[in-house]
Amino acid sequence: AVSRSYSIAAMGADGIGPEVVDAGVQVLSKLASLDGSFQLEFEDYDWSSDTYKKTGQYIPDGGLEKLKKHDAILFGAVGAPDVPDHLSLWGLRLAICQPFQQYANVRPTKIFRGTSSPLRNAEHGDLDWVIIRENSEGEYAGQGGRSHRGQPWETATEVSIFSRHAVQRIMEFAFEIAQKRPRKQLTVVTKSNAQRNGMVLWDEVALEVSKKFSDVKWDKMLVDAMTCRMVLDPKSIDTIVATNLHADILSDLAAALAGSIGIAPTSNLDPTRQNPSMFEPIHGSAFDITGKGVANPVATFWTASEMLAWLGEEEAAKKLMDAVETVTEKGVRTRDLGGSAGTQEVTDAVCAELERVF
Ligand code: NAI
Ligand code: MG
Repeated sequence: AVSRSYSIAAMGADGIGPEVVDAGVQVLSKLASLDGSFQLEFEDYDWSSDTYKKTGQYIPDGGLEKLKKHDAILFGAVGAPDVPDHLSLWGLRLAICQPFQQYANVRPTKIFRGTSSPLRNAEHGDLDWVIIRENSEGEYAGQGGRSHRGQPWETATEVSIFSRHAVQRIMEFAFEIAQKRPRKQLTVVTKSNAQRNGMVLWDEVALEVSKKFSDVKWDKMLVDAMTCRMVLDPKSIDTIVATNLHADILSDLAAALAGSIGIAPTSNLDPTRQNPSMFEPIHGSAFDITGKGVANPVATFWTASEMLAWLGEEEAAKKLMDAVETVTEKGVRTRDLGGSAGTQEVTDAVCAELERVF
Protein backbone atom coordinates (compact mmCIF):
# COMPACT_ATOMS: atom_id res chain seq x y z
CA ALA A 1 0.00 0.00 0.00
CA VAL A 2 1.13 3.50 -0.73
CA SER A 3 1.87 5.16 2.57
CA ARG A 4 3.09 8.57 1.52
CA SER A 5 1.21 10.93 -0.72
CA TYR A 6 2.11 14.46 -1.79
CA SER A 7 -0.04 17.09 -3.39
CA ILE A 8 1.87 19.16 -5.93
CA ALA A 9 0.72 22.38 -7.56
CA ALA A 10 1.99 22.37 -11.15
CA MET A 11 2.28 25.91 -12.48
CA GLY A 12 4.03 26.23 -15.83
CA ALA A 13 3.04 29.90 -16.31
CA ASP A 14 4.68 31.50 -19.37
CA GLY A 15 6.75 30.73 -22.46
CA ILE A 16 8.61 27.42 -22.18
CA GLY A 17 7.43 27.13 -18.54
CA PRO A 18 4.40 24.92 -19.37
CA GLU A 19 6.56 22.79 -21.73
CA VAL A 20 9.20 21.99 -19.13
CA VAL A 21 6.74 21.58 -16.25
CA ASP A 22 4.76 19.13 -18.37
CA ALA A 23 8.01 17.20 -18.96
CA GLY A 24 8.71 17.31 -15.23
CA VAL A 25 5.26 15.94 -14.38
CA GLN A 26 5.74 13.08 -16.88
CA VAL A 27 9.05 12.07 -15.33
CA LEU A 28 7.81 12.43 -11.75
CA SER A 29 4.69 10.37 -12.50
CA LYS A 30 6.81 7.63 -14.06
CA LEU A 31 9.16 7.65 -11.09
CA ALA A 32 6.34 7.48 -8.53
CA SER A 33 4.59 4.63 -10.33
CA LEU A 34 7.82 2.63 -10.67
CA ASP A 35 8.83 3.25 -7.06
CA GLY A 36 5.40 2.48 -5.63
CA SER A 37 6.20 3.60 -2.10
CA PHE A 38 4.89 7.14 -2.53
CA GLN A 39 2.23 8.86 -4.57
CA LEU A 40 2.18 12.25 -6.27
CA GLU A 41 -1.03 14.10 -7.02
CA PHE A 42 -0.70 17.01 -9.39
CA GLU A 43 -3.07 19.92 -9.63
CA ASP A 44 -2.66 22.25 -12.58
CA TYR A 45 -2.63 26.00 -12.09
CA ASP A 46 -3.00 28.18 -15.17
CA TRP A 47 -1.87 31.41 -13.51
CA SER A 48 0.20 33.23 -16.10
CA SER A 49 0.66 36.44 -18.04
CA ASP A 50 -2.37 35.40 -20.11
CA THR A 51 -4.48 35.38 -16.94
CA TYR A 52 -3.07 38.78 -16.11
CA LYS A 53 -3.90 40.19 -19.54
CA LYS A 54 -7.46 38.84 -19.27
CA THR A 55 -8.25 39.62 -15.64
CA GLY A 56 -5.73 42.23 -14.51
CA GLN A 57 -4.24 39.90 -11.92
CA TYR A 58 -1.89 36.96 -11.90
CA ILE A 59 -3.30 35.40 -8.76
CA PRO A 60 -7.08 35.27 -8.45
CA ASP A 61 -8.75 36.33 -5.20
CA GLY A 62 -8.27 33.64 -2.60
CA GLY A 63 -5.64 31.96 -4.78
CA LEU A 64 -2.83 31.94 -2.24
CA GLU A 65 -4.99 30.23 0.40
CA LYS A 66 -5.72 27.48 -2.11
CA LEU A 67 -2.09 27.19 -3.14
CA LYS A 68 -1.03 26.97 0.49
CA LYS A 69 -2.76 23.59 0.87
CA HIS A 70 -0.27 21.81 -1.39
CA ASP A 71 2.90 20.14 -0.18
CA ALA A 72 5.01 21.80 -2.86
CA ILE A 73 4.81 23.97 -5.97
CA LEU A 74 6.49 23.02 -9.25
CA PHE A 75 6.88 26.27 -11.13
CA GLY A 76 7.98 27.02 -14.71
CA ALA A 77 8.78 30.64 -15.47
CA VAL A 78 6.94 33.92 -15.68
CA GLY A 79 7.50 36.72 -18.18
CA ALA A 80 5.85 37.66 -21.46
CA PRO A 81 7.10 39.93 -24.24
CA ASP A 82 4.11 42.27 -23.89
CA VAL A 83 4.09 42.60 -20.07
CA PRO A 84 6.81 44.62 -18.31
CA ASP A 85 9.08 42.19 -16.45
CA HIS A 86 8.72 43.97 -13.11
CA LEU A 87 4.94 43.44 -13.27
CA SER A 88 5.17 39.73 -14.07
CA LEU A 89 7.88 39.03 -11.51
CA TRP A 90 6.14 40.90 -8.69
CA GLY A 91 2.69 39.73 -9.84
CA LEU A 92 3.37 36.01 -9.66
CA ARG A 93 6.75 34.73 -8.52
CA LEU A 94 7.48 37.21 -5.75
CA ALA A 95 3.77 37.28 -4.87
CA ILE A 96 4.17 33.61 -3.90
CA CYS A 97 7.74 33.62 -2.48
CA GLN A 98 7.30 36.60 -0.17
CA PRO A 99 4.02 35.83 1.66
CA PHE A 100 5.03 32.15 1.91
CA GLN A 101 8.29 33.28 3.51
CA GLN A 102 10.36 31.14 1.16
CA TYR A 103 13.39 32.92 2.48
CA ALA A 104 16.06 30.46 1.39
CA ASN A 105 16.74 30.16 -2.30
CA VAL A 106 19.01 27.22 -3.00
CA ARG A 107 20.85 26.88 -6.32
CA PRO A 108 23.11 23.90 -6.82
CA THR A 109 25.38 23.74 -9.86
CA LYS A 110 27.60 21.03 -11.23
CA ILE A 111 29.08 19.84 -14.49
CA PHE A 112 27.09 16.78 -15.55
CA ARG A 113 28.75 13.60 -16.67
CA GLY A 114 29.17 13.85 -20.41
CA THR A 115 28.76 17.62 -20.65
CA SER A 116 31.46 20.23 -20.82
CA SER A 117 32.10 23.55 -19.18
CA PRO A 118 33.15 26.62 -21.15
CA LEU A 119 36.04 26.73 -18.68
CA ARG A 120 39.04 25.09 -20.30
CA ASN A 121 40.27 23.46 -17.11
CA ALA A 122 37.04 22.36 -15.47
CA GLU A 123 35.63 18.87 -15.83
CA HIS A 124 32.90 16.80 -14.18
CA GLY A 125 33.61 16.93 -10.45
CA ASP A 126 35.63 20.15 -10.57
CA LEU A 127 32.67 22.44 -10.20
CA ASP A 128 30.17 21.35 -7.58
CA TRP A 129 28.64 24.30 -5.79
CA VAL A 130 25.55 25.26 -3.86
CA ILE A 131 24.62 28.92 -3.87
CA ILE A 132 22.30 30.05 -1.07
CA ARG A 133 20.46 33.23 -1.90
CA GLU A 134 18.63 35.39 0.64
CA ASN A 135 15.15 35.40 -0.86
CA SER A 136 13.01 37.68 1.26
CA GLU A 137 14.53 41.16 1.44
CA GLY A 138 17.79 42.89 0.52
CA GLU A 139 17.85 44.66 -2.81
CA TYR A 140 14.52 43.10 -3.86
CA ALA A 141 12.50 44.26 -0.86
CA GLY A 142 10.50 46.57 -3.07
CA GLN A 143 11.26 49.72 -1.07
CA GLY A 144 11.79 52.93 -2.92
CA GLY A 145 9.91 55.32 -5.11
CA ARG A 146 9.94 57.69 -8.02
CA SER A 147 9.42 61.43 -7.96
CA HIS A 148 9.08 64.02 -10.74
CA ARG A 149 8.11 61.40 -13.32
CA GLY A 150 9.21 62.18 -16.83
CA GLN A 151 11.06 65.34 -15.82
CA PRO A 152 14.77 65.75 -16.50
CA TRP A 153 15.19 65.90 -12.71
CA GLU A 154 13.26 62.69 -12.14
CA THR A 155 14.58 60.73 -9.15
CA ALA A 156 14.20 57.07 -8.21
CA THR A 157 15.36 55.16 -5.14
CA GLU A 158 15.75 51.43 -4.71
CA VAL A 159 16.39 50.85 -1.04
CA SER A 160 18.03 47.63 0.19
CA ILE A 161 16.69 46.24 3.44
CA PHE A 162 18.83 44.03 5.67
CA SER A 163 17.29 42.93 8.94
CA ARG A 164 19.25 41.07 11.58
CA HIS A 165 16.41 38.55 11.72
CA ALA A 166 16.59 37.71 8.02
CA VAL A 167 20.37 37.80 7.77
CA GLN A 168 20.69 35.51 10.75
CA ARG A 169 18.20 32.92 9.50
CA ILE A 170 19.79 32.72 6.03
CA MET A 171 23.26 32.52 7.55
CA GLU A 172 22.21 29.66 9.85
CA PHE A 173 20.59 27.90 6.93
CA ALA A 174 23.76 28.30 4.82
CA PHE A 175 26.04 27.01 7.56
CA GLU A 176 23.73 24.00 8.00
CA ILE A 177 23.84 23.21 4.27
CA ALA A 178 27.63 23.60 4.22
CA GLN A 179 27.92 21.33 7.25
CA LYS A 180 25.95 18.57 5.50
CA ARG A 181 28.18 18.62 2.42
CA PRO A 182 31.37 16.56 2.35
CA ARG A 183 33.76 19.52 2.22
CA LYS A 184 32.01 21.51 4.98
CA GLN A 185 33.05 24.77 3.43
CA LEU A 186 31.20 28.09 3.12
CA THR A 187 32.05 31.37 1.41
CA VAL A 188 30.15 34.42 2.66
CA VAL A 189 29.87 36.93 -0.19
CA THR A 190 29.21 40.64 0.42
CA LYS A 191 30.33 44.03 -0.76
CA SER A 192 31.13 45.33 2.68
CA ASN A 193 33.83 47.71 1.55
CA ALA A 194 31.52 49.93 -0.49
CA GLN A 195 28.16 49.10 1.10
CA ARG A 196 29.11 49.94 4.63
CA ASN A 197 25.84 49.37 6.51
CA GLY A 198 23.84 46.33 5.47
CA MET A 199 26.85 44.41 4.23
CA VAL A 200 28.82 45.05 7.41
CA LEU A 201 25.84 43.64 9.31
CA TRP A 202 26.14 40.52 7.12
CA ASP A 203 29.82 40.15 8.04
CA GLU A 204 29.08 40.56 11.75
CA VAL A 205 26.22 38.07 11.74
CA ALA A 206 28.34 35.60 9.74
CA LEU A 207 31.03 35.73 12.40
CA GLU A 208 28.47 35.21 15.20
CA VAL A 209 26.75 32.29 13.48
CA SER A 210 30.06 30.66 12.52
CA LYS A 211 30.78 30.09 16.21
CA LYS A 212 27.92 27.57 16.33
CA PHE A 213 29.43 25.64 13.41
CA SER A 214 33.03 25.09 14.44
CA ASP A 215 33.43 22.21 11.95
CA VAL A 216 32.59 24.42 8.96
CA LYS A 217 35.52 26.11 7.30
CA TRP A 218 34.40 29.55 6.09
CA ASP A 219 35.79 32.60 4.37
CA LYS A 220 34.58 35.97 3.12
CA MET A 221 34.75 37.38 -0.39
CA LEU A 222 33.67 40.61 -2.02
CA VAL A 223 31.20 39.87 -4.81
CA ASP A 224 33.35 41.30 -7.61
CA ALA A 225 36.34 39.22 -6.56
CA MET A 226 34.04 36.21 -6.26
CA THR A 227 33.24 36.34 -9.99
CA CYS A 228 36.97 36.04 -10.73
CA ARG A 229 37.38 33.16 -8.31
CA MET A 230 34.43 31.30 -9.85
CA VAL A 231 36.07 31.48 -13.25
CA LEU A 232 39.72 31.04 -12.30
CA ASP A 233 39.58 28.65 -9.35
CA PRO A 234 36.24 26.78 -9.37
CA LYS A 235 37.62 23.87 -7.35
CA SER A 236 38.26 26.13 -4.36
CA ILE A 237 34.52 26.79 -3.90
CA ASP A 238 31.81 24.66 -2.28
CA THR A 239 28.85 26.44 -0.61
CA ILE A 240 28.19 30.17 -1.10
CA VAL A 241 25.80 32.49 0.71
CA ALA A 242 24.96 35.94 -0.65
CA THR A 243 22.27 38.60 -0.82
CA ASN A 244 19.23 38.47 -3.05
CA LEU A 245 20.88 40.51 -5.84
CA HIS A 246 24.43 39.23 -5.57
CA ALA A 247 23.38 35.59 -5.51
CA ASP A 248 20.95 36.14 -8.38
CA ILE A 249 23.84 37.24 -10.57
CA LEU A 250 26.39 34.75 -9.26
CA SER A 251 24.00 31.86 -9.84
CA ASP A 252 23.46 32.73 -13.50
CA LEU A 253 27.24 32.84 -13.90
CA ALA A 254 27.46 29.51 -12.10
CA ALA A 255 24.88 27.95 -14.44
CA ALA A 256 26.72 29.20 -17.51
CA LEU A 257 30.06 27.93 -16.18
CA ALA A 258 28.51 24.52 -15.63
CA GLY A 259 27.56 24.35 -19.29
CA SER A 260 24.03 25.72 -19.76
CA ILE A 261 21.29 27.70 -18.11
CA GLY A 262 19.05 24.85 -19.28
CA ILE A 263 20.20 22.47 -16.52
CA ALA A 264 20.21 24.50 -13.31
CA PRO A 265 17.48 24.24 -10.63
CA THR A 266 16.24 26.51 -7.86
CA SER A 267 14.41 25.79 -4.64
CA ASN A 268 12.54 28.56 -2.84
CA LEU A 269 12.30 27.09 0.63
CA ASP A 270 10.36 27.94 3.73
CA PRO A 271 12.65 26.05 6.11
CA THR A 272 10.03 26.33 8.88
CA ARG A 273 7.73 24.22 6.65
CA GLN A 274 4.69 26.30 7.56
CA ASN A 275 4.14 27.02 3.86
CA PRO A 276 4.76 24.96 0.76
CA SER A 277 8.13 25.52 -0.88
CA MET A 278 8.43 26.32 -4.56
CA PHE A 279 10.73 24.58 -7.03
CA GLU A 280 11.63 26.00 -10.43
CA PRO A 281 14.28 25.84 -13.11
CA ILE A 282 16.63 28.82 -12.91
CA HIS A 283 15.93 29.90 -16.50
CA GLY A 284 13.16 32.21 -17.68
CA SER A 285 10.36 31.83 -20.19
CA ALA A 286 12.70 31.90 -23.22
CA PHE A 287 10.38 33.43 -25.83
CA ASP A 288 12.95 32.77 -28.55
CA ILE A 289 12.37 29.01 -28.33
CA THR A 290 8.78 28.83 -27.02
CA GLY A 291 6.51 26.35 -28.80
CA LYS A 292 9.35 24.77 -30.75
CA GLY A 293 9.70 21.70 -28.57
CA VAL A 294 13.42 22.26 -28.04
CA ALA A 295 13.53 23.58 -24.45
CA ASN A 296 15.92 21.63 -22.26
CA PRO A 297 13.80 19.89 -19.59
CA VAL A 298 16.86 18.88 -17.54
CA ALA A 299 16.72 21.97 -15.28
CA THR A 300 13.15 21.01 -14.42
CA PHE A 301 14.13 17.36 -13.83
CA TRP A 302 16.85 18.43 -11.43
CA THR A 303 14.30 20.82 -9.86
CA ALA A 304 11.88 17.89 -9.50
CA SER A 305 14.61 15.87 -7.83
CA GLU A 306 15.31 18.69 -5.37
CA MET A 307 11.57 18.84 -4.64
CA LEU A 308 11.42 15.12 -3.87
CA ALA A 309 14.42 15.40 -1.56
CA TRP A 310 12.76 18.29 0.29
CA LEU A 311 9.59 16.20 0.68
CA GLY A 312 11.69 13.43 2.23
CA GLU A 313 11.92 11.10 -0.78
CA GLU A 314 15.70 11.25 -0.95
CA GLU A 315 16.23 7.86 -2.53
CA ALA A 316 13.82 8.54 -5.38
CA ALA A 317 15.39 11.99 -5.82
CA LYS A 318 18.80 10.43 -6.28
CA LYS A 319 17.51 7.82 -8.74
CA LEU A 320 15.98 10.58 -10.83
CA MET A 321 19.22 12.57 -10.95
CA ASP A 322 21.24 9.48 -11.83
CA ALA A 323 18.85 8.72 -14.69
CA VAL A 324 19.06 12.30 -15.97
CA GLU A 325 22.85 12.27 -15.90
CA THR A 326 23.01 8.91 -17.61
CA VAL A 327 20.77 10.16 -20.40
CA THR A 328 22.89 13.29 -20.81
CA GLU A 329 26.04 11.21 -20.86
CA LYS A 330 24.58 8.91 -23.52
CA GLY A 331 24.21 11.97 -25.74
CA VAL A 332 20.44 12.51 -25.64
CA ARG A 333 20.77 16.27 -25.28
CA THR A 334 19.00 19.42 -26.42
CA ARG A 335 20.63 22.05 -28.59
CA ASP A 336 21.84 24.23 -25.71
CA LEU A 337 24.03 21.27 -24.65
CA GLY A 338 25.28 20.71 -28.17
CA GLY A 339 22.80 17.96 -29.04
CA SER A 340 19.82 17.75 -31.38
CA ALA A 341 17.12 16.08 -29.25
CA GLY A 342 13.81 17.78 -28.49
CA THR A 343 12.14 18.22 -25.11
CA GLN A 344 9.97 15.11 -25.49
CA GLU A 345 12.85 12.94 -26.69
CA VAL A 346 14.88 13.78 -23.59
CA THR A 347 11.82 13.23 -21.41
CA ASP A 348 11.15 9.82 -22.99
CA ALA A 349 14.81 8.86 -22.60
CA VAL A 350 14.73 9.69 -18.88
CA CYS A 351 11.49 7.70 -18.43
CA ALA A 352 13.06 4.76 -20.28
CA GLU A 353 16.20 4.97 -18.14
CA LEU A 354 14.05 4.95 -15.00
CA GLU A 355 12.27 1.81 -16.26
CA ARG A 356 15.66 0.22 -16.80
CA VAL A 357 16.98 0.89 -13.28
CA PHE A 358 13.86 -0.07 -11.33
P1 NAI B 1 15.76 33.13 -20.33
O1 NAI B 1 16.34 32.26 -19.28
O2 NAI B 1 14.33 32.98 -20.59
O3 NAI B 1 16.56 32.91 -21.69
C1 NAI B 1 17.94 33.20 -21.84
C2 NAI B 1 18.52 32.36 -22.98
O4 NAI B 1 18.67 31.01 -22.54
C3 NAI B 1 17.61 32.32 -24.20
O5 NAI B 1 18.42 32.31 -25.36
C4 NAI B 1 16.89 31.01 -24.08
O6 NAI B 1 16.49 30.43 -25.29
C5 NAI B 1 17.92 30.14 -23.37
N1 NAI B 1 17.25 29.15 -22.50
C6 NAI B 1 16.62 29.40 -21.34
N2 NAI B 1 16.10 28.27 -20.84
C7 NAI B 1 16.39 27.29 -21.71
C8 NAI B 1 16.11 25.89 -21.75
N3 NAI B 1 15.41 25.27 -20.79
N4 NAI B 1 16.55 25.19 -22.81
C9 NAI B 1 17.25 25.78 -23.78
N5 NAI B 1 17.56 27.09 -23.80
C10 NAI B 1 17.13 27.85 -22.78
O7 NAI B 1 16.09 34.63 -19.89
P2 NAI B 1 15.61 36.00 -20.54
O8 NAI B 1 15.59 35.88 -22.02
O9 NAI B 1 16.43 37.03 -19.90
O10 NAI B 1 14.13 36.22 -20.01
C11 NAI B 1 12.95 35.88 -20.74
C12 NAI B 1 11.76 36.14 -19.82
O11 NAI B 1 11.79 35.26 -18.71
C13 NAI B 1 11.71 37.56 -19.26
O12 NAI B 1 10.36 37.97 -19.24
C14 NAI B 1 12.20 37.39 -17.85
O13 NAI B 1 11.71 38.35 -16.98
C15 NAI B 1 11.69 36.02 -17.52
N6 NAI B 1 12.43 35.33 -16.45
C16 NAI B 1 11.71 34.67 -15.52
C17 NAI B 1 12.32 33.96 -14.53
C18 NAI B 1 11.48 33.24 -13.55
O14 NAI B 1 10.30 33.09 -13.73
N7 NAI B 1 12.03 32.74 -12.47
C19 NAI B 1 13.79 33.88 -14.44
C20 NAI B 1 14.48 34.57 -15.50
C21 NAI B 1 13.81 35.27 -16.47
MG1 MG C 1 18.08 35.36 -12.24
